[in-house]
Amino acid sequence: MRLRIRGTGSALPAHCVTNDELSRIMDTSDEWIVSRTGIHSRHISHGEATTDLCVQASRRALADAGMDAEELELIIAATVSPDDYLPNTGCAVQSAIGAVHAVAMELNAACAGFLFALNTVQAYIQAGIYRKALVIGGEVLSKMVDWEDRSTCVLFGDGAGAAVVEAAEEGYYFFCQGSDGRKGNVLSCRNRRVCNPFVSEEKALSEKEKQDYVRMDGREVFRFAVRTVPEAIREVLQRGERTVEEVDWFLLHQANERIISAVAKRLKVSEEKFPMNLDHCGNTSAASIPILLDEVNKKGLLKRGQTIVLSGFGAGLTWGAALLKW
Ligand code: COA
Repeated sequence: MRLRIRGTGSALPAHCVTNDELSRIMDTSDEWIVSRTGIHSRHISHGEATTDLCVQASRRALADAGMDAEELELIIAATVSPDDYLPNTGCAVQSAIGAVHAVAMELNAACAGFLFALNTVQAYIQAGIYRKALVIGGEVLSKMVDWEDRSTCVLFGDGAGAAVVEAAEEGYYFFCQGSDGRKGNVLSCRNRRVCNPFVSEEKALSEKEKQDYVRMDGREVFRFAVRTVPEAIREVLQRGERTVEEVDWFLLHQANERIISAVAKRLKVSEEKFPMNLDHCGNTSAASIPILLDEVNKKGLLKRGQTIVLSGFGAGLTWGAALLKW
């Protein structure tokens, strides 16, 4: 048994912010952002919560799949920006869409989150535990970035994407994934630190420490991505006994156009096989792959029987790739 994607959906906040608008509130320019990243604009929440976007994307994926929410047995929501500590985003979506028979959970593997969630569902399906699942990647990163740090805030956007999957007899799904926790400081965002009535006053936290934002060593992340993604893709192709030439589409995490171009070059594959949407979405972390998947699906670019590679990478550090038959 292997995972087959039956339907996709996505949701972006209505409010779109261009580079020129950013340059009016901080010292940046359209030229700098486009030349370094390929990003022209991004959607920024005007109050939409992560769950709202995940619910919208999920409803669209279910409609695309022609599946009723009550048929779902498993929901995994990947996010680094949940609305609440409790309940988890998967359960919040379950409640909103009425997936009363599903078990629901949340997964954090940063920008590789959707891929890790999909791989987890594949493992459940292969083990014969579940047959129908909803996999979501959703983020409201605009509440986590430091709007006074131009080197990070211009890169990110908000949105959600979802895929409805089911067990299938034919086809294939291979994956590889990795993590290196020793490099956690390269891309981080602190949560609350221990602060309770039993902690001494010297240890009490300043306001700044209580609420920290995304911090990133951009160059280090860039180097990591350009080195690791081609390796992961080669590894998954080896596992699936396929060549790069046999792949119809490479759907990569949308962090930076230059990273995607470098990966295409290293694999010696035409960039035309690497669809991108970061020009109008920016980096939406766990949401980027499912939003892109939905865009190319709705454009009719994906044909049944095609070979697709997904690859994600990000904080953790985490990375991976999946090879599947559409
Ligand atoms: N506008 C204008 N200038 C900016 C800027 C902005 N938004 N952000 C940073 N700068 C300035 C810096 O202050 C620095 O100035 P200095 O040289 O005077 O100190 C300079 O630009 C740095 O430029 P450069 O060295 O050319 O940056 P870069 O080529 O390394 O590009 C990133 C920076 C962040 C775009 C790039 O490193 C990157 O994309 N890294 C990967 C990030 C990523 O994808 N993260 C998510 C992974 S999931």
